[in-house]
Amino acid sequence: MKHLLTIAFLAIAVVSTSAQGIYNFTVKDGNGKDVSLADYKGRVLLIVNTATRCGFTPQYTELEALYKKYRTAGLEILDFPCNQFGEQAPGTIEEIHQFCTANYDIEFPQFDKIDVNGPEASPLFTYLKQQQGFKGFDTSEQMGKLLDGMMRKRDPDYDKNPDVKWNFTKFLVARDGRIVERYEPTEKIANIEADIQMELNPVLSTIMARRSVRHYLDKPVEHEKLALIARCGINAPNGMNRQPWIVRVVEDQKLIADVTDVYKRANAEQVSRESGFKNMFRNAPNIICVCSPNQGGDLDAGLLGENMMLAAQALGLSTCCLGGPVRFLTSNPDARFFLDRINIPEGYRLNYIIAVGYPDEQPAARPRDASKVEFVK
Ligand SMILES: Cc1cc2nc3c(=O)[nH]c(=O)nc-3n(C[C@H](O)[C@H](O)[C@H](O)COP(=O)(O)O)c2cc1C
Repeated sequence: MKHLLTIAFLAIAVVSTSAQGIYNFTVKDGNGKDVSLADYKGRVLLIVNTATRCGFTPQYTELEALYKKYRTAGLEILDFPCNQFGEQAPGTIEEIHQFCTANYDIEFPQFDKIDVNGPEASPLFTYLKQQQGFKGFDTSEQMGKLLDGMMRKRDPDYDKNPDVKWNFTKFLVARDGRIVERYEPTEKIANIEADIQMELNPVLSTIMARRSVRHYLDKPVEHEKLALIARCGINAPNGMNRQPWIVRVVEDQKLIADVTDVYKRANAEQVSRESGFKNMFRNAPNIICVCSPNQGGDLDAGLLGENMMLAAQALGLSTCCLGGPVRFLTSNPDARFFLDRINIPEGYRLNYIIAVGYPDEQPAARPRDASKVEFVK
């Protein structure tokens, strides 16, 4: 997938808008009737601006094939014809719809014609562009190179704004309303299909949605949810089922506050620079301390932790795996009371901590280097 391969865009944007934002929009269908996007809650959406006289118009065939294949599994394709690129979507919406059904047999919903850029831009597309800006054409491909050259000639800074660049730009929306990806028209449909499969599958989409979160709401996690998370943790695979871990789920808010006071005294300057600082555990209301035997058990502890982080994600919570606070807690004598309180048995050490809570930010995915993976066939 292009977005996994891309390591050039290292900027880590933090999107603060609620993931549910997409469902606040209302659009017009082909008959001019209002349709609330809330009607599509819980479905995976591929939103696309189309044109009937574009070199990319045959993509309708591939889009319809995707729709047929994944519709019952939860995919919706929302088609918005747009005449802003080379005036390649002329005519009325009725004419466009007739053309698309006659030539491409499309069954997915086709909405009224809209602008995607400029002063009359559809608020939906303004939102989509704000959530997923332009990340560049894939210039290693002929068509991407062509489009990049063409656009740059017209405006050398064309890539500096999030505007939709051409017909058949697509936005993928997760079942929970997150705008997970943007695809330029040159993106291979096979790559988009792989992402759709991820989003349709609850386990895969949970894996892909997890981010390290460092700002949380002031709302402790319910005990029942913490218990579920811990249960998922101890059900992780582990060598010979020896379960070489000790887990301490901290719900005591005063303990977190007290040890943070020690941290604040020792790191006054750093804390004063950190905006929105609530506590030393990346501001999370709850933490899970994972302990391992003094020798070994690291692999097992790691698997336990990932189970817990994914379980939290699936329960609508967010997490952050923390090594930094462990170094502080185990080296500062004034923090000893914390280690005593969590009751680490003889022969064990605090290995790492998982911050957990309700997220107050939606960080963008950090890039991953797909070239680390090779397939040996
Ligand atoms: C062993 C380990 C220790 C980490 N320690 C910290 C930490 O002390 N503070 C922090 O903010 N993030 C910490 N992280 C989170 C990583 O920075 C984060 O997982 C990584 O940047 C990838 O981002 P993502 O989790 O959002 O995909 C740690 C992660 C791991 C696995």
